[in-house]
Amino acid sequence: MADNFLDLGHFPFLHLATFGVTDDEQVPDYDMERSGLSVRVEYSHATKALADSMDNADDFRQVERHDVFVFTPPHHVYIYIDYADENAVLAISFAHQPVNASTTRLFCTDYRNDIEDTAEARLEATKFQLAVGAEDKALLERSHFKAVPLDQRYEVHTKADRVTLEMRRILTDLVALASE
Ligand SMILES: [Fe+2]
Repeated sequence: MADNFLDLGHFPFLHLATFGVTDDEQVPDYDMERSGLSVRVEYSHATKALADSMDNADDFRQVERHDVFVFTPPHHVYIYIDYADENAVLAISFAHQPVNASTTRLFCTDYRNDIEDTAEARLEATKFQLAVGAEDKALLERSHFKAVPLDQRYEVHTKADRVTLEMRRILTDLVALASE
């Protein structure tokens, strides 16, 4: 699941019914910064306006959003999303608990500066997050092989995978540290 949340290439394919747009299919250059056992990525890309992301309609407004991803091992992902056009910031924490070899429990907290502090607004925001999560979950459940190989010879990587490749290096380093 961490591998999926850090994948910069899947938005315009998997999330078209929520925030993704086809104009985002080309992954632009992006900065990645490794610091100790953590990696941070900053990335700007085309997306649906936040207000239009739940409609699954053709007449959505397209905007640029700026994302910051931080991976901390063994499997925590933090995402900071800035919708500058809408003056909205989403800060989302994904904490993963392995249940067994093929099942993960996800604890997600979602902080937003653009919604009223009401039960109804929280419910709407949660509904959006769950809709995005359901798109990821459907793909992950179709994947037969759930493990993340740390030996880089077993997978093919693209530009979109620089951060998940770094995640693999970090996990390799963590395993080495743990066995010292
Ligand atoms: Fe996703």
